[in-house]
Amino acid sequence: MTSAFDDSFKELEQSVMEDMRRVYTEKTIDHFFNPRNLGQIQAPDGFASVTGPCGDTMEIYLRVNNGRIINVTFWTDGCGPSIASGSTVTEMVRGKSLVEAKKIKQDDILNALGGLPEESLHCALLAANTLREAIRDYLAFKNEPWKRAYRR
Ligand code: FES
Repeated sequence: MTSAFDDSFKELEQSVMEDMRRVYTEKTIDHFFNPRNLGQIQAPDGFASVTGPCGDTMEIYLRVNNGRIINVTFWTDGCGPSIASGSTVTEMVRGKSLVEAKKIKQDDILNALGGLPEESLHCALLAANTLREAIRDYLAFKNEPWKRAYRR
């Protein structure tokens, strides 16, 4: 037996989901609610924390072996589209070589999500830029890992 409260909560939930579906693809909504690879990697081989013009920050952590990304995680304090973009970009690069991963751009993330609204395009750019910086960080320290101890 359901209460009047349960019924009105369900109606509200359905209406919120309908509103979201008008704006976002199913894939994007799925990544909002079930973000992949969320979290941190202790002592990562590559790391970046990038703050976009909107003031939101994304972090990407890489574990690299033989030039291949064997583990990758992200974290963000940003909006739903930034969660979807971080989640998607980590799925895209897991198992890829650094050479392949470096080629991933904002448009690749947008295509994987089936698009984002105009006002959220920069959220995919934040994910692409954070990935690029994490790879750059890995390459900068690859041959001189002791320098990490002096990293700010
Ligand atoms: Fe800042 Fe989406 S609004 S990342």
